[in-house]
Amino acid sequence: MMVTLPSLALALLSLLRAGAEVPVQSSFSAEKFAGTWHIAAAASNCSVFLKIKDGMKSATITISLTPEDDLDMKLVWPMLDKGQKFELLFQRSGQTGHYVAAQEKKDMHVMETDYSHYAIVHQLQQNGQERPRTALQLLTREQDVTPQLLQRFKELIPTVGLTKDMLAVLPKSDHCTEVIS
Ligand SMILES: *[C@@H]1O[C@H](CO)[C@@H](O)[C@H](O)[C@H]1NC(C)=O
Repeated sequence: MMVTLPSLALALLSLLRAGAEVPVQSSFSAEKFAGTWHIAAAASNCSVFLKIKDGMKSATITISLTPEDDLDMKLVWPMLDKGQKFELLFQRSGQTGHYVAAQEKKDMHVMETDYSHYAIVHQLQQNGQERPRTALQLLTREQDVTPQLLQRFKELIPTVGLTKDMLAVLPKSDHCTEVIS
């Protein structure tokens, strides 16, 4: 009998439990969700995010489906004059619209989306013994965000245990002329 669980498994278990009540888009389609998005706004209780949020610009996300129906996510964050590139693999869980990036200990729910204009995504990250960090992101297909979408996003912030002062509306960025990874 196994007496101790590896800490990664433990962290994932607590993530799965913490994220269990997050609602997801009904009849979610990963195929329709794939493609390019811009992060138009974000809210998070991550202390690093709160420190830098007022200077942040919109990032670009490109999502493609792997043969296993997992989400391969490429992010380009504009930092100074350069684009900083990140890549994450979100594996699908038992529930549609719910994904887990085991290595980064991240958990993601696509709370709602109309696929062609916007998506609201919930993320949870667990780092060791620290309290989990929650983030909500408003993704848009176009870089411009309508006041209606922003309003909808603001309505969801308190429903995931965050507050409005944790919100950052991210200004458009000129395309990164150079991408470093
Ligand atoms: C972030 O918010 C979630 C939901 O309210 C909470 O469970 C978590 O402990 C918070 N984390 C921090 C670092 O404040």
